[in-house]
Amino acid sequence: MATTQPLPAAPRRADFPDGFRWGCATSAYQIEGGVDADGRGESIWDRFCLASGRIRDGSSGAIACDHYHRWREDLDLARGLGLNAYRFSIAWPRVFPSGRGPAANAAGLDFYSRLVDGLLERGIEPWPTLYHWDLPQALQDRGGWHSRETVEAFADYAACVGRVLGDRVRNFTTHNEPWCSAFLGHREGSHAPGLQGWQTALQACHHILLSHGRAVEALRAEAGGARAGIALSLHPCRPATDSVADALAVERHDGLRNRWFLDPLFGRGYPADTWQRFGCNVPIVLEGDLATIAASTDFLGINYYFPERIAAAPGEDPLGVKVVEDAAVERTATGWEVEPDGLVELLDRVRRDYAPAEIYLTENGSCYEDTVEPDGSIADGERRRYLQRHLSAVRESIVRGVPLKGYFAWSLLDNFEWAEGYTRRFGLTHVDFATQQRTLKESGHWYREFLRPTTHD
Ligand code: FCB
Repeated sequence: MATTQPLPAAPRRADFPDGFRWGCATSAYQIEGGVDADGRGESIWDRFCLASGRIRDGSSGAIACDHYHRWREDLDLARGLGLNAYRFSIAWPRVFPSGRGPAANAAGLDFYSRLVDGLLERGIEPWPTLYHWDLPQALQDRGGWHSRETVEAFADYAACVGRVLGDRVRNFTTHNEPWCSAFLGHREGSHAPGLQGWQTALQACHHILLSHGRAVEALRAEAGGARAGIALSLHPCRPATDSVADALAVERHDGLRNRWFLDPLFGRGYPADTWQRFGCNVPIVLEGDLATIAASTDFLGINYYFPERIAAAPGEDPLGVKVVEDAAVERTATGWEVEPDGLVELLDRVRRDYAPAEIYLTENGSCYEDTVEPDGSIADGERRRYLQRHLSAVRESIVRGVPLKGYFAWSLLDNFEWAEGYTRRFGLTHVDFATQQRTLKESGHWYREFLRPTTHD
């Protein structure tokens, strides 16, 4: 298609390249339940949910979508949608209940082996993520991500998964959103393990990035044709006003939100301006660490949800910034700004500044209240429109030359939304958590129609 032609109002699958991966994404703790099944160990999220006041509705992922027992039905749903790829995560505490070997828990590994086979039988490519926030509690008890021992434990775990699944899985993602693991978990304390300190968070962050590099090496050593990448949550950052102070604040905020991850992963080390702001809180970085973090990868995963507006806030924290809200802009039920153009801008920037060989949108989605109609159907027109508008942005980015190779909608199912419990729904499929009944929403029906091959494909 010529780049000068106007884009179609509603995206059509035929406008995307052949071989594009069309998926949905989920994560283990958010959907599996079965927390005591088959020798699974305790994770930091099991422990975090026990403390009162941590989770908005006092719930936990103990049952969640009961996917551990209903996975066949869920894979049928994925096939029914017409997906050709599915991103899920592996629960480390199922594989190593106390974090490390010597022996792996065969029953836990078998679950993922069956899941991978089930996907392949349905013509869906498995895209596992090794870490979507559920660290074995036993490792947390020995220091968690603040300790270097966890880095080596993660490399062993990656090697084990590579050995067992590497004959059937090609694309492995090491970490999901290290910003959240490090800063929500160790600075704000709103996520497990609920710690609050800049040094703790920055050290944990360094070890998470280091463990990514070690895992890439381990996966390649154990699984011949393995391709590896990481999924980052990235945000376009905008100044709250036209002032010079806010423009400078944007730079500082971007230094932690985006560059703190992209720079070292792409071989530039930590951004010097941001490093300086952290003073005595900077992490201990040993010789060779930066080279390990910069391990060459096959793809960059980007999770895109919203842009951020930044104002200068002297003395606020080491960065002297605050995130502000513009009352006039469109938002989802989580308060996140809806801005498909922000995705185009972000992808342009990542391509220009870092030139990854391949990019996958490993998450994108929206939270809205579902309306259950009298006939049982679920009207979620806002989510459908959100999906359409973001797919148009994906299309535009491809036309602009971004090497975008796949899109994973968050999420296949409504699920346990971390500190928000079950109060926030992101699924293309509605889950009635009392009965575990799944019902495809209007957005899911639209995605299915969009993905349906036509004679023009
Ligand atoms: C992302 C997380 C995912 C889910 C969505 C809504 O930050 O990776 O698990 O919570 O947000």
